[in-house]
Amino acid sequence: MLDSLPRRVAQRKTLALPDYSLAAERIPQHVPAVLEDAERRRLKVRIAELLKERDAVLVAHYYVDGDVQDLAEETGGFVSDSLEMARFGRDHPAGALIVAGVRFMGETAKVLSPGKRVFMPTLEAECSLDLGCPPDDFKAFCQEHPDRTVVVYANTSVQVKALSDWVVTSSIALPIIEHLAARGEKILWAPDKHLGRYIQSRTNADMLLWSGACVVHEEFKAKALHDLKGIYPDAGILVHPESPAAVIDIADAVGSTSQIIKAAGELPHDLFIVATDRGIFHKLRQRNPHKRFIEAPTAGDGATCRSCAHCPWMAMNELKQLAQTLEDGERLAANEIHIEPEVGRRAMLPLERMLGFSMA
Ligand code: 13P
Ligand code: SF4
Repeated sequence: MLDSLPRRVAQRKTLALPDYSLAAERIPQHVPAVLEDAERRRLKVRIAELLKERDAVLVAHYYVDGDVQDLAEETGGFVSDSLEMARFGRDHPAGALIVAGVRFMGETAKVLSPGKRVFMPTLEAECSLDLGCPPDDFKAFCQEHPDRTVVVYANTSVQVKALSDWVVTSSIALPIIEHLAARGEKILWAPDKHLGRYIQSRTNADMLLWSGACVVHEEFKAKALHDLKGIYPDAGILVHPESPAAVIDIADAVGSTSQIIKAAGELPHDLFIVATDRGIFHKLRQRNPHKRFIEAPTAGDGATCRSCAHCPWMAMNELKQLAQTLEDGERLAANEIHIEPEVGRRAMLPLERMLGFSMA
């Protein structure tokens, strides 16, 4: 436990931790619009103009619409995983950041750059892990275990980050937990149980796990993946560690979105089966035009998929929404991230600890 942190008060009663997976009815159905080429080009030109007018830079995640990713790069912005998005937003001199991703990414950007204005195409872009970790419940859980160092995944609300000692993303979770375990610290981990279990298995750290899950990655099915590998025996398997353990066990490479993209370039396979959001295929194909990529199965034998390898909240980051939000001052203001200063200051500590660790 870090000495400089406020002491947590132990309670005598032990809480039974419920299952915090998101109920199916809370997962939105979002069907992205199909645009004619001329309309896509017109929107991209207009968004580029509006970014300039508003002294804004576009920072996008690998899961969002391919046109939005391209536009970010074409206009001097950035496309990356959640760790590097945070760093880029903090270091860029623009007065405003437009974060195309999900809300926790916008909040992280605002915490790290309190002097900048941070907007999103829509604030409705949530994350099941964030929704599955209500701050009050999490606070009670932390108070139950005052002897543990609280490590939270970046996919959480700013209020949850403010309760933590460390924030990690999937790019950097393993070395940070290894570092803490080597110091003899016991970990309280939230919210993704699959990622937590994976890190625990790789580090042997003493980790108490919250019970959240990603609605996209949880749907990948190990048996169906085995069967698919039987059809394509030479395929490499790339897996994001938010997936269930049985899926991770079959992988040739396990890692964050940027680590998956790196592995696709470095591994010798010509064909990959990919267990993560299919938005990543845009960058995988751009970087590896001679390799082929297919989606890992989500339905399985007799099962149905709800997210079907595409995050419904990431899918809300469409060109049209982005253009409308930037065009209309009122709509832009309605999609600005605001954070209570004290909560932001408290959340900045574990975020800066993570960024400082990754620089070391
Ligand atoms: P990365 O940090 O690997 O980009 O992952 C973010 C995410 O939300 C994965 O579902
Ligand atoms: Fe959250 Fe999963 Fe969507 Fe990533 S893919 S933003 S973890 S719901």
